[in-house]
Amino acid sequence: MVASSAPGKVYLFGEHAVVYGEPAVPCAIDKRATVEVTERSDDSLRVEARDLSLDGFTVEFAGGVAGVSDIEVESELVEAAIGYVDEAIQHAMRLGDAPDAGFDVSIASDIPLGAGLGSSAAVVVATIDAATRELGVEVSPDEIAEHAFAVEYSVQEGQASRADTFCSATGGSVRVEGDDCTPIASPELPIVIGYDGGSGNTGELVAGVRELKEGYEFADGAIGLIGDIVREGETLLGQEEVSLESLGQLMDFNHGLLSALGVSGRSLDVMVWAARNAGAAGAKLTGAGGGGCIVALDASAETEQALRITPECESVFRAELDHEGVRAE
Ligand code: MEV
Repeated sequence: MVASSAPGKVYLFGEHAVVYGEPAVPCAIDKRATVEVTERSDDSLRVEARDLSLDGFTVEFAGGVAGVSDIEVESELVEAAIGYVDEAIQHAMRLGDAPDAGFDVSIASDIPLGAGLGSSAAVVVATIDAATRELGVEVSPDEIAEHAFAVEYSVQEGQASRADTFCSATGGSVRVEGDDCTPIASPELPIVIGYDGGSGNTGELVAGVRELKEGYEFADGAIGLIGDIVREGETLLGQEEVSLESLGQLMDFNHGLLSALGVSGRSLDVMVWAARNAGAAGAKLTGAGGGGCIVALDASAETEQALRITPECESVFRAELDHEGVRAE
């Protein structure tokens, strides 16, 4: 048996626009998915998951999601999670030149599913790393990032950027623009995350933005403006003294534009305003949107306290930048 873990992430700036070639800056956070992989004596796959903000589930199948049986928890999210794991295992089998291998896969995660914190990328990255090591092959984080991106691209039917998977594989703060993925220096930031207990469907949300972009020139313009915010944000992050106020203001702008593109939601907006009213430097949704998490910057305890008493917020926690990407456990 081998185990690997990989971090989740928040987007400081740039989700959705990154799908259309604009830059984005996601940051890995100290919340991880851990995947244990053991080779089986037959060619089937057994996936067990715990702590995915769902009841645990176990599923055994051979030959892909179509063959799924015994799902104990009926859920679109569980099916999606299995789709990612199955595809990640197929990549690992190709990398390990083991077309007839079978595996027991056990996933434990402190990243809620589909909530904007990069749970699927973390699970895919950790699964590829653990399964290839179980097959006796060492694969570099950059190569894992490339294969993990191919997994997301295929499962999300072409609606994925390299941002989530690269950030999870390498850790730290990264800049992603098209195929170009670069680690960037970033200061420690006082990150507060509010979670509404819900989730969004990334594929549907990305498709909704695409429809607006194709239908309205100003929606296309909003995507370009998000790119401008990211470029401005990068300049700020590169300065010796980083101004939280200025970073926060850019996050507020970014949230407004995401909202205009239809990917926010009532509970996300309520949490964003609770954070701002409590004195956060800035707040925005993170990830695909629809439901899930917001990210705010506040060194004081006020934003956490305000979110804790906001009915729309199910849980609130601090996160730190995680400089480590995928690692053996
Ligand atoms: C989802 O975490 C982020 C999106 O930009 C999609 C992607 O980049 O693949 C919405």
